[in-house]
Amino acid sequence: MITSNKQNSAEEGIETNLRPKTFDEYIGQKNAKKNLKVLIEAAKKRKEAIDHVLLFGPPGLGKTTLAHIIAGEMGAGLKITSGPAIERVGDLGSILTNLNDGDVLFVDEIHRLNKTVEEVLYPAMEDGKLDIILGKGPSARTIQLDLPKFTIIGATTRLGMLSAPLRNRFGALLRLNFYDENDIVKIIKRSASILKTEVDELGCEMVAACSRRTPRIANRLLKRVRDFSEISEVKVAGQEIVKKSLEMLEIDELGLEPADREILTLMIEKFDGGPVGIQTIAAATSEEVQTIEDVYEPFLLQIGMLERTPRGRKVTRRAYEHLKIPIAE
Ligand SMILES: Nc1ncnc2c1ncn2[C@@H]1O[C@H](COP(=O)(O)OP(=O)(O)OP(=O)(O)O)[C@@H](O)[C@H]1O
Ligand SMILES: [Mg+2]
Repeated sequence: MITSNKQNSAEEGIETNLRPKTFDEYIGQKNAKKNLKVLIEAAKKRKEAIDHVLLFGPPGLGKTTLAHIIAGEMGAGLKITSGPAIERVGDLGSILTNLNDGDVLFVDEIHRLNKTVEEVLYPAMEDGKLDIILGKGPSARTIQLDLPKFTIIGATTRLGMLSAPLRNRFGALLRLNFYDENDIVKIIKRSASILKTEVDELGCEMVAACSRRTPRIANRLLKRVRDFSEISEVKVAGQEIVKKSLEMLEIDELGLEPADREILTLMIEKFDGGPVGIQTIAAATSEEVQTIEDVYEPFLLQIGMLERTPRGRKVTRRAYEHLKIPIAE
C-alpha cells in the first residue's frame, strides 16, 4: 500500500538518503520554514536552546525531517523517541536526565503519551525541573532535579488529540500542509538525481499528480518507476513507464488507491453517500478508524471527494463523477 505509514528497513535506509539535511534542501512549507528560521536565529543570538516546537500535519509531509534540520541548524544533539515508547515516568526521567545542554528531544506521535508521563513532562518543559517521587505510601517524598536546557520537538498527526495543557507548553505550533504540485515535482527531481534514475518532465509531472501532495508517497512512487524502467530497460522514464507503474500499483490519476475508492464506493452504495459516522465506515471497510482519519481522509477532504458535516462524512458530487457512479435523484 503506497500510503502505508509503516516502513520496512530497506526503505528506511533510502528514506534517510533522500531526507533533506538543510533548510535549503527542504522544499516547500514556506511558512513553517520562515517561523523556524526566526526562532533559531533568535535563540542563537541569545545563546539559548530554542523554544519547544510542535509540528503537526498528515503523515509523510516532513515532520521528522524538520526535526533533524532544526537540530542540525542549532548545532545541537538530537535524541529521538515517541509517545508510545515512553511507557513509564521512569522512562521519561532517564531520557531527560541523559540529555546534554542544548539538546533537542524529538517526540514523535506525542499525542500518544500517557497521562502520568505527560504530567511529569509539564514542569520539565516549563521550568526545566523533574519531580521524582521516592518511596511509597505515607513515607513517600518528592525530590526535584534540575534538568539540562533542552528543546522538545513534538510531532503529531492529530493536533486535536493533544491535551490543552500540553499544547500550551509549546512556544511554536507549526502546521505542515499538503505540498503544491510544483514543489512535489521539485522533490521528485531531487530524489531522482540522488537515486540516479532519470524521469522526463512529463513523467515527473505524472508522478507528482498521483503523489497525494506528499513527499513520502512521491518518493515511493518514484522508486517503483525506477524499478519499472530497469526491468523494461528504459533509460529515461516517460509517461508510458509511469503510467504502467501506476496501473500496477492500482493508483489512479488522482493518486487514489484501492482503499480510497473502496471507502468512497461503500459510502455511496451502502449509505447513499452519507452522512456516515467514521466508526461505521471503519467497520464496513475493516480499516481502523485511526488509519482512515490519518491516512485516507485528510487527502480525500483536501481534493474535495469528501466533506465533513456535523452528522458525519459525506461523499461529494466530485467523488461520484470520479468513480463514474450516477447520482441517484
Ligand atoms: N520538504 C521536503 N523536501 C524534500 N523531501 C522531503 C520534504 N519533506 C519530506 N521529504 C521526504 O519525505 C520523506 C518523509 O518525510 P518525514 O519522514 O519527515 O515525514 P513525517 O512527517 O515525519 O511523517 P510521519 O508522520 O509518517 O512520521 C523523507 O524521507 C524525505 O525524503
Ligand atoms: Mg516521522
